[in-house]
Amino acid sequence: LRNDLDQLVDVKGGFISREIFVDADIYRQELDKVFTRAWLLVGHESLVPNPGDFYTSRMGEESVILCRDKKSEIHVFLNSCRHRGMKVCRYEQGNASLFTCPYHSWTYTTDGKLQGVPLHRTLYDGVLDREANSLVSVAKLCNYKGSIWATWDKDAPDFLTYLGDAKIHLDQALDCRDGREGGSEVIGVHKWVFPANWKFAAENFLGDTYHNPSHRSVDLIGIGPSAAAGKKGRRDDELEKAEHVWISFPAGHGVHSAIQPEANEYTESFLDNPILEKYFRHCFEERKRRLGEGARLLPFVGTIFPNTSYHGRQPRGLCAWHPHSPTSTEGWRFFLVDKDAPKEAKEYLRRYYMRYSGPAGMTEQDDMENWLYATAASTGTVARRYPFNYQQSMGAYVTDHPLGGDVSKQVTEQIARGFYRRWTTYMQGGDWHELLGSPAGKRQAAE
Ligand code: FES
Repeated sequence: LRNDLDQLVDVKGGFISREIFVDADIYRQELDKVFTRAWLLVGHESLVPNPGDFYTSRMGEESVILCRDKKSEIHVFLNSCRHRGMKVCRYEQGNASLFTCPYHSWTYTTDGKLQGVPLHRTLYDGVLDREANSLVSVAKLCNYKGSIWATWDKDAPDFLTYLGDAKIHLDQALDCRDGREGGSEVIGVHKWVFPANWKFAAENFLGDTYHNPSHRSVDLIGIGPSAAAGKKGRRDDELEKAEHVWISFPAGHGVHSAIQPEANEYTESFLDNPILEKYFRHCFEERKRRLGEGARLLPFVGTIFPNTSYHGRQPRGLCAWHPHSPTSTEGWRFFLVDKDAPKEAKEYLRRYYMRYSGPAGMTEQDDMENWLYATAASTGTVARRYPFNYQQSMGAYVTDHPLGGDVSKQVTEQIARGFYRRWTTYMQGGDWHELLGSPAGKRQAAE
């Protein structure tokens, strides 16, 4: 596969074969080599606020249980009984004191231990090793500002090392609007299946601003935050005056962010609703006071390798692109608000999220049209002979910018090239130094 992949993913030349988006063997290897090693988003602590709360999620194709045990500790387990593999939890969300397998009734505690085995003394001579038959737990778990991440690889670096310099960009999605760290909650989750390879979605959020013409209808019918026909969103002035940056990070993450001019002003306008006006103005002033210079960084979008994307501005939230098959993906959007925001602000944002994103939202529908037609076209016998072109803005980046990574001031496919470079490293079984973007030579020198 090593040689094949070098031919299929020609990052230097700027060509990537359509095979990696549709081939069944490559897809099986992705599940093994990428999804069992990389840090994956599982959920958010606000989905399991009380002891015994659980939320079933996914890692790759596999079902997992995000659970808060009786002592309030958070766990992530494979949702599969150790006896014959039945799903021990078939609900999406709830509260339980025990998980009872529906097949033969083995029971597991909320911290994953096998507790009850029917006819234990008679059929197992009372000696079945309960410890060895506990639910399979992830190797590492991280609660980062409320978002829950996990990996099956015990040798993976800690989550913040994995995140590297992409941290401050992801923070913009997780922190409160007034600049306080964390403090967000999930206000709702959209889940839907679409017929496209998961990488189309991940790549879209890496900073593919080039696809903006797809969303022309959003401006025309006024689906932006201002909801005014013919106008762009309320905050677009803010974005237009800012300096935009597209950054490819060595671990494969990519972001599109913007830096406001120094004398940035409050540009929201909710004069028809004093509660919203007061709340958003307060957030703006507080953020500026708390973060100082840091408040000039405007969050936008990004993808944390491999399949977690975020929206830092409204509609603020996290997306997980769960693979189902080479040509099918389950998209999850976790919408975030400040936990202590007024009810009116939460309701306003909830409605905005629904009309903008998710399966019924305007922008997501635009995007999905592109992804699913591109996937379908890639399965064609003739079409598969022709690779995709990734030659945009070759070499137009700097490597010594304070934000880290390869920083470009123009729209660029450098981020996509970086993503697929790292994807190839995973597929070729690279070690963690290589996966984080440290070349083997540099590692040996450091050692
Ligand atoms: Fe769960 Fe048999 S499969 S108890």
